[in-house]
Amino acid sequence: MSKKIIITGGAGFIGSHVVRLFVNKYPNYTIINVDALTYAGNLENLKDIDTQPNYFFEKVNILDVKALEDVFDKYGVTDVIHLAAESHVDRSIVSPLDFVYTNIIGTVNLLNTAKNKWAADLSKHRFYHISTDEVYGSLGETGLFTETTAYDPNSPYSASKASSDHFVRAYRETYHMQTVVSNCSNNYGPFHFPEKLIPLFIHNIIQEKPLPVYGDGLYTRDWLYVKDHALAIDLVFHDGKDGETYNIGGFNEWKNIDLVKLLCKQMDEKLGREIGHSEKLITYIKDRPGHDRRYAIDATKINKELGWKPSVTFEQGLSETIDWFLSNQEWLQNVTSGNYQNYYQSMYSNR
Ligand code: NAD
Ligand code: DAU
Repeated sequence: MSKKIIITGGAGFIGSHVVRLFVNKYPNYTIINVDALTYAGNLENLKDIDTQPNYFFEKVNILDVKALEDVFDKYGVTDVIHLAAESHVDRSIVSPLDFVYTNIIGTVNLLNTAKNKWAADLSKHRFYHISTDEVYGSLGETGLFTETTAYDPNSPYSASKASSDHFVRAYRETYHMQTVVSNCSNNYGPFHFPEKLIPLFIHNIIQEKPLPVYGDGLYTRDWLYVKDHALAIDLVFHDGKDGETYNIGGFNEWKNIDLVKLLCKQMDEKLGREIGHSEKLITYIKDRPGHDRRYAIDATKINKELGWKPSVTFEQGLSETIDWFLSNQEWLQNVTSGNYQNYYQSMYSNR
C-alpha cells in the first residue's frame, strides 16, 4: 500500500536518518517531514534527498494545531512517526517549560489531530511514538531496562518524554488508536548536534579545546549507532505489534571516561597526533544535577520478535562517525556558527 507518512523532527539528528532511509527505501511512499526548525533542526542534514519526488518538507510547529490539520488534509496522511522533541537533558534543566510544550503538549496535539482525521477508520492508521530509555530512570551496577520496567524519570526531559508516552497509551486505551512505542538508548553518528557528548568532544578535540567531563566520569550509557536505530524504527513501524513497546539498545555499555579515552585515541590516530595528546584536554567539571548513573537496555524482545540487532561494533561505528565529522567540517562550522539556519531561507523561500 502507498502510505503517506508524516515524520516529525525529520530535520534533527535521528529524524534525518529515518527520513533518508524511508525516502530511499520506499519510493512509493510519500514522506512528509514536519519540523519547526528549532536550533536542533537543520535541513542541510537532508541535502542529498531533498529533491526526491516522494519527499516533502513542511515547516510546522507541532504546537500549531491548525497547521497540523492543514498538513493532514493536504497530503491525506495515513501514518505518523513522531520524533520531534526537545532532546537535550542539560537544556531541560535550564528551560523545563520548553520541554513541557513540545514534548507533552505537542505530542497530544499530534495524537488528537491524527485521531480526528482518521476517525472514519482508526484501524487503518498507525501512530508510532519514538521515546527514550531515560523514562525508566537510573540503574544500579547491575540489571537492564526491559519493556516492563516501571517508569521513574528524573530530569525534566525524561519526565516530559514519560508523560508523552503515557498520553500515547491513553489515546490507545481510550480512543482505540493503533499505536506503537519504542524506547531507545543513546544514539551517536553523523549529523549529531554538537551539544551532546560525542559530537561536542569530537569538535573540541579538533579545536584542541577542553573536554568537560561531568562529575567523576563514571556514569554509564548504552550507545547505539544511529543508522541501526533507523533500521529498527523501519522494522517496528512495519512489523511491530499494535499497542506494544519495543526497547532498542546497543548491548554496548560504556563509562563516560572510558568512551572519552577511546575517542581521544581514535582521533589522535586519525589526526596524526601523538597518542595521549587529546587525553590531556580532559577536564573534570561540576556534575549535571540529577545525573542518572547508568542506563542499559535489554533489547531481547525486538531481537526475538522482529529479528533486529545492531549491525556494527562500537569501535567501527565510532570510527565511521569520527571520519564523517572530519570530512564534514563545513557542516560542523555551519552548526557552531549558526549559519545552518540560513539554509532554509536560501533553499525554500522560492518553493
Ligand atoms: P534532535 O534534538 O536532534 O532533533 C529534534 C527535531 O525536532 C529538530 O529537527 C527540531 O527542529 C524538531 N522540533 C523540536 N521542537 C519542535 C516542535 N515544537 N515542532 C516541530 N518540530 C520540532 O533530537 P534527536 O536526538 O534526533 O531525537 C529525536 C527523538 O528521539 C526525540 O523524540 C528523542 O526524545 C528521541 N531519542 C533520542 C535519543 C538520542 O540519543 N538522541 C535516544 C532515544 C530517543
Ligand atoms: O538515553 C537516551 C538519551 O540519550 C536521549 O533520550 C537524549 O535525547 C540524548 O540527549 C541522550 O541523553 P544523555 O544525557 O545521556 O546524553 P548526553 O550526550 O547529553 O550525555 C551523555 C553522558 O555524558 C551523560 O552521562 C552526561 C555526560 N556528559 C555530557 C556532556 C554534554 C559530560 O560528561 N560532559 C558533557 O559535556
